[in-house]
Amino acid sequence: MTLPVSEIEACALEDVDKADTPSNLQLVRAKYLGRKGLLTVRRRALKSLPVASRAALGREINDCANKISQVIESRMAVLKQRAIDDALRREALDVSLPGRRQSNGSLHPLTQVMHRIEDIFVGAGFDVVEGPEIETDYYNFTALNIPPDHPARAMHDTFYLDDGGKAELVLRTHTSPAQIRTMEARNPPLRVISPGRVYRRDSDMTHSPMFHQVEGLAIDRDLGLAHLKGVIGDFLNRFFEKRLAVRFRPSYFPFTEPSAEVDVQCVHCGGEGCRSCKYTGWLEVMGCGVVNPRVLRMGGVDPDAWSGYAFGFGVDRLAMLYFGVADLRQFYAGELDFLAQFDRL
Ligand code: FA5
Ligand code: MG
Repeated sequence: MTLPVSEIEACALEDVDKADTPSNLQLVRAKYLGRKGLLTVRRRALKSLPVASRAALGREINDCANKISQVIESRMAVLKQRAIDDALRREALDVSLPGRRQSNGSLHPLTQVMHRIEDIFVGAGFDVVEGPEIETDYYNFTALNIPPDHPARAMHDTFYLDDGGKAELVLRTHTSPAQIRTMEARNPPLRVISPGRVYRRDSDMTHSPMFHQVEGLAIDRDLGLAHLKGVIGDFLNRFFEKRLAVRFRPSYFPFTEPSAEVDVQCVHCGGEGCRSCKYTGWLEVMGCGVVNPRVLRMGGVDPDAWSGYAFGFGVDRLAMLYFGVADLRQFYAGELDFLAQFDRL
């Protein structure tokens, strides 16, 4: 049974209406006008009709095909425009959305602590001087009364530079070389601090292979241990803005006599003992003492006329206590989420 052309046309118009994408509409075109399309098949079948009825039916088929073709064309234009509009809408900027805030960034917590330390000492009349990170064996050891083969050299796990076997160049293991360099460059009375990076073969929760120290040196008439204790105590109180328990513990350094080390009560456990303080309740923050007369002489200062005190503290340790960080290696892990917490100073 064959459908009347008018009915084919009605179906086609309905299909065109229903097609909602350009590719669906292509399918509709194929269904009616394609090589095996309904109208194409009907046109081919004309041959088998008597000549008399061919012309009228042929015209009817052609008219119908033209009409369907036109309807498809205009529907196609609509659908293509709609596809473009949709794509644009998907990519469009919604200017009413709240903007993404640009973070200002902040100084590294160790830099913040370093600035804070410098401010306190500058306020107390100290100048800030700097020394090289690549030091000679002489400044790092010998001039500080640590001659070759002195057992104190073993206290520092030194990085030696490859200088052809001479072993004269080291990455400085402490900021104390600044004491000698300062005495060579200035005349007493003097008061300086010297902040910077130092290096040792060390790594655990409280030791990093690269860390920071601030050296202090004061030379004047009759300076001694009492002045040292006063300055250090005052500094720690200002730095922490509260009274943390602090203790001076007798110790040994070849370049000071007498010598002491200063411990601050562990802020993580309140002195109970934890992993951070190696279960001692205390964190060692600095070495200090009265400058050994031999060291004054090495620096060209007359020990009969002048005396002084020196100290060298670990900036990273102070930062651990100040910010409440349990493992100082976190300062060097480069994780922004961690570092961004300390935009405090
Ligand atoms: C010294 O380096 C002496 N030059 C300090 C000094 C200066 C004594 C002037 C007398 C006069 P010491 O090795 O203890 O001493 O180190 C000083 C501080 O640096 C320590 O108290 C500790 O706070 C810190 N420190 C030492 N090693 C490390 C490390 N690997 N990582 C982080 N901090 C460290
Ligand atoms: Mg020590």
